[in-house]
Amino acid sequence: MNQAPETAFSAVLRAASAGDHAAAESAGYMGDLMGGKLPIAAFAALTARLHPVYTALEEAAEAMRAHPVAGRFVHDELSRTPALEEDLAFLYGPEWAERLGDSPAARAYTERIRAVAFDTPEGFFAHHYTRYLGDLSGGLIIGRTLERVYDLADGKGVAFYRFAAIPKPKPFKDAYRALIDEAPFDAEGRALVVSEVREAYRLNTALFAELGELTWNEAA
Ligand code: HEM
Repeated sequence: MNQAPETAFSAVLRAASAGDHAAAESAGYMGDLMGGKLPIAAFAALTARLHPVYTALEEAAEAMRAHPVAGRFVHDELSRTPALEEDLAFLYGPEWAERLGDSPAARAYTERIRAVAFDTPEGFFAHHYTRYLGDLSGGLIIGRTLERVYDLADGKGVAFYRFAAIPKPKPFKDAYRALIDEAPFDAEGRALVVSEVREAYRLNTALFAELGELTWNEAA
């Protein structure tokens, strides 16, 4: 479907959530992390929190694979759970699964994905878009910065931020945005997507806020 650029749903969605993105981006924790002010345990704690989130999201992708609308967004190249597990093994050691503490913010985010991303294409797409398009945008810059800040040789600990199966993010993102513009979401569906994307940003901001409150010499 050919649409004027400003009415294309990808552009509407980006504009409608720009304020929420700005709020997430300006979290003190992220600034401190990228500015090299925090020990590596603070970075590890973010990776630990992303693991249950992506486990839920990627289980939803499996459940939605054959769905006529949601299934179009499922791309195996995006899969992050194996990379997160590789990073956790580096950051926490082989027994990482027993060493991760409880995170109410990660639990809330994961529960939200489990509540809305397995049933409706709008719910699935909203969470899929918010994470993966972000990972392929700012996430790539964040990964390169963290690699330098924590002096991580050969990408150890930052596999999550590297999409080995997507060597050229720009054409991938362009194709993803074309899928957004072609998706048959009606006005009600679009409103649902916008509202859930905003909720996803809030859940991410809450995750950063939780990380910002931890004391690093004690926290795992
Ligand atoms: C320090 C934190 C962050 C930085 C520096 C950052 C940076 C960026 C940048 C530079 C872009 C623009 C790329 C472009 O125009 O193609 C972008 C896009 C995006 N970011 Fe972030 N971001 C951050 C945090 C987040 C978070 C926490 C999320 C949500 C989980 C997120 C989700 C997105 C999404 C979905 C897009 C694509 C918007 C669109 O084009 O539709 N970002 N980010």
